[in-house]
Amino acid sequence: MSSKPAADNPKTLFSTQDIVLDSGYQGIDAASWKSLFKQAKEAHLEQFIADLFAGKPVNNSENRPAIHSALRNLDRTPVLVNGKDVMPDVAQVWHRIEALCNKWVGVTDVIHIGIGGSDFGPRLAIEALAHVPDIESRGMRMHFLANIDTAELNRILQRALPHSTKVIIVSKSFTTLETTMNARAVVKWLKNNGLTDSQVSKSLFAVTANVPAAEAFGIDQDHIYPFWDWVGGRYSVWSAVGLPIALQYGFDTFKKFLAGAQAMDQHFKSAPLEDNIPVIMALSLLYQQEKHNIKSYAVIPYADALDWFPKWLQQLDMESNGKSVDRDGKPVKFSCPVVFGSSGSNAQHSYFQLLHQGTEIIPIDFIAVREPMSHLPEAKEHHRILLSNCLAQAQALANGKKTDNPNNTYPGKRPSNLLILPKLNAFYLGALLALYENRTAALGALWNINSFDQPGVELGKVLAKPIEAALKNGGSVHADSGIDEVTAARINLFNQ
Ligand code: F6P
Repeated sequence: MSSKPAADNPKTLFSTQDIVLDSGYQGIDAASWKSLFKQAKEAHLEQFIADLFAGKPVNNSENRPAIHSALRNLDRTPVLVNGKDVMPDVAQVWHRIEALCNKWVGVTDVIHIGIGGSDFGPRLAIEALAHVPDIESRGMRMHFLANIDTAELNRILQRALPHSTKVIIVSKSFTTLETTMNARAVVKWLKNNGLTDSQVSKSLFAVTANVPAAEAFGIDQDHIYPFWDWVGGRYSVWSAVGLPIALQYGFDTFKKFLAGAQAMDQHFKSAPLEDNIPVIMALSLLYQQEKHNIKSYAVIPYADALDWFPKWLQQLDMESNGKSVDRDGKPVKFSCPVVFGSSGSNAQHSYFQLLHQGTEIIPIDFIAVREPMSHLPEAKEHHRILLSNCLAQAQALANGKKTDNPNNTYPGKRPSNLLILPKLNAFYLGALLALYENRTAALGALWNINSFDQPGVELGKVLAKPIEAALKNGGSVHADSGIDEVTAARINLFNQ
């Protein structure tokens, strides 16, 4: 890998909407890029992208489209699912979200109950936009309740003021145990704090693709914000799942978030493969995987506001593509590497030692933001130092350093991307998330993996049931059909 462009060096700078991708440290020469684009064509990537946006059933195991792009289709051009235009339903939910933003006065606390895809997106957006200097916040305390562990619940219930709290229960299926149990606990807390049944009803809202289950839970019909089975949970922040963004920062900000994602969709849909940022990022990961057999990659946003981004990306990538069989049930040679990361420069003081000198090559996506994230007098100088650290790490990883002392030698040739956002605001946050969603989908197409189902999460949920019963009953447990010997012994440790 060279720090200087070689004669045959291919294009390394790509841009859309003033977002820049610099792949200069990928170490991929022009001939390799040529064969990568050939590989993409042979994998019918262009056809896949067209099918994805056209609402074809790209989720083949569940025979469904994955048309989350309709949720950010602000132009409302018709999007057909089974011959029906979904845009009127989508737009109706937008109107209802906007109306709700105007209605909520005097709300001090919002408890957003949901997990996985019903949690990460809004949590990330609320956190990220809180750091944006020019964004107006309505100042509600936004609490995110995901874990069944009562620590989170306890912390929230100690802070929230029950009489001015609104509760949003978010679950695509409305059957997720963590979510329904936490919701029941919060309802109990409201009642224990003297709210009448009618006051509780006024406080409860739901966002779901299973409206009957939300009604059965006791949520008023006009407090239920639907989304649809063609939206995967991890792709759902663009639906009413993103309500907290609109409620806290205003509907216009939510629209800007959608607009950024829509702009990235346009780019992904229409840019040739050779200029297409999500495709370039997918192909460069594929190259590193095929060349170096990489097992993991890191994403390091040099922006504290994006500290939740790697966690959001972990679900997006690993739940989508962490599979060992392809669309036809055949074993795959490669699938999703482990993704990890956290914000820089903090990350430098944690696991960067391994990134520089460990035995494995771990590609990195560095994300930098041009503008400082505050108006403090120190902001410019701190930001300069933040950026210089980001650039220096990439250079050190790429070029390494040879010394006579092996301990002080850096092997170099460690690939990275640099993604530059002009600033962090709702538009660019939306664009960033959609960029990675599209990159994940492109990778799935290249590996011939269905990125839109998650059958691997079911088994553990099923096995938890008899274990929970055994923990509840107490006493000594023996292995049986649902519980093996090791687990029976472990249950006995807890039951002692
Ligand atoms: O972890 C499995 C999963 O189904 C995720 O795909 C999803 O985001 C999460 O659980 C929550 O599901 P739901 O929104 O249906 O409660």
